[in-house]
Amino acid sequence: MCKVFQISRIVLALLSVWPILAFSQNSSSYNINAHLLPSLKPDRIILNLSEDPLKGIHVNWRTDTTLAVSHLELAKATAGPEFREKTKLEEALTQTLVSRQDNVPTGYANYHEVKLTGLEPGISYVYRVGGGESWSEWFQFTIPQNDKEVNFLYFGDVQNEVVSMFSRVIREAVINLPKMDFIVYAGDLINHESADFEWGEWFEAGQWIHSSIPSMMTPGNHEFSKNPATLTPYWNAQFNLPTNGPKGLEETTFEVNFPELKLISLDGEQIDESPEYRRAQMDWLRSILTDNPRKWTVITFHYPVYATAPDRYHDKMIDYIRPILQEFKVDLAIQGHDHAYARGMAFEENGKLDYGKGTVYVVSVAGPKMYDVKEDAWMERKAYGTQTYQWVQVKEDVLRFKTYTALGELYDSFEIHKNAQGENTLVNSIPDTPERLQDK
Ligand SMILES: [Fe+2]
Repeated sequence: MCKVFQISRIVLALLSVWPILAFSQNSSSYNINAHLLPSLKPDRIILNLSEDPLKGIHVNWRTDTTLAVSHLELAKATAGPEFREKTKLEEALTQTLVSRQDNVPTGYANYHEVKLTGLEPGISYVYRVGGGESWSEWFQFTIPQNDKEVNFLYFGDVQNEVVSMFSRVIREAVINLPKMDFIVYAGDLINHESADFEWGEWFEAGQWIHSSIPSMMTPGNHEFSKNPATLTPYWNAQFNLPTNGPKGLEETTFEVNFPELKLISLDGEQIDESPEYRRAQMDWLRSILTDNPRKWTVITFHYPVYATAPDRYHDKMIDYIRPILQEFKVDLAIQGHDHAYARGMAFEENGKLDYGKGTVYVVSVAGPKMYDVKEDAWMERKAYGTQTYQWVQVKEDVLRFKTYTALGELYDSFEIHKNAQGENTLVNSIPDTPERLQDK
């Protein structure tokens, strides 16, 4: 390496951490997690679902600002190392973000994204990201088969003590279950929307899992700053989610279409806070559900239609979203926010609730923060104080749903059977174990 290049690299590296040096003098509560700072070596590498997951996949990663340009190298996976002889190089789109922790700048980071297109169903690919001397390892992923079977994981709020308390949950899920096609997060991935080290912990908990299994996430209230509700700049910088929803809600309100499954994310915070974005999402939701050719529809948003916490009532979801889910017979709503587990149905008609039909609603929590769960007629199964993960399988006329505790124990199980007329029948197979409820 020539001397000029060496010196310029040192200068650039110093420039990228100058705010830390400047601010660390006068911030007594400020802790630098050195291993979570950006470096030349890519980190926070994540796959996201594309709009059409049988043809494409999205990739996102972070580096420091030493290199303005970063690359992704892709190949079809082979049993041996020969895939390296036939690779394709893609240049990333890059944006620079000022990282913050406790509202103190911690430096600059470059976030890079590539949208891979033209991929083939059922084929395994390998990719790595970076450039020069600093590349990630090769990660491997498989595009789902076009056989109409889809398997995915769903996590409720992760939010607090993420690396300490969520790591075991996601790892247990991946160890315990078959290989998943993707992961859904129902919002509140972290606690403070722009706390860089909290995002660092989220990526540390998931590690290579996030680089190998694509995910889609819907934002929760903790991904927003308040007055007015403003999505953290981290969201669009570090994720690479679909942008096919209403204008202004890119990567928060979107749809993903498998051959027989439509997946939808709504931006719950903007339903709650913004009449304009609420209306835009309602109109858009109606438009994509009208003449929906897919057999199954699963929707995720953060604020649950039916609250599980005794002191909560999510009026905007009840008043504005529930009628659309009912009208268009959405099969399953996977939600978060209330820090408990509950599952059931409640179809509103003429002011009365029918607990035997309609959308199946689920609330779950993957992190350690727990709220009481109330007794409520819509709940077929509920739990207090339980970190869970969920496995959903959509295959032909049956949707299978299983909830496991962090110990890997089956806690809830049901199937939805769809007949030729598109009518659903719920089949319960709840384990014969006591409900986990708080002391009265
Ligand atoms: Fe929340």
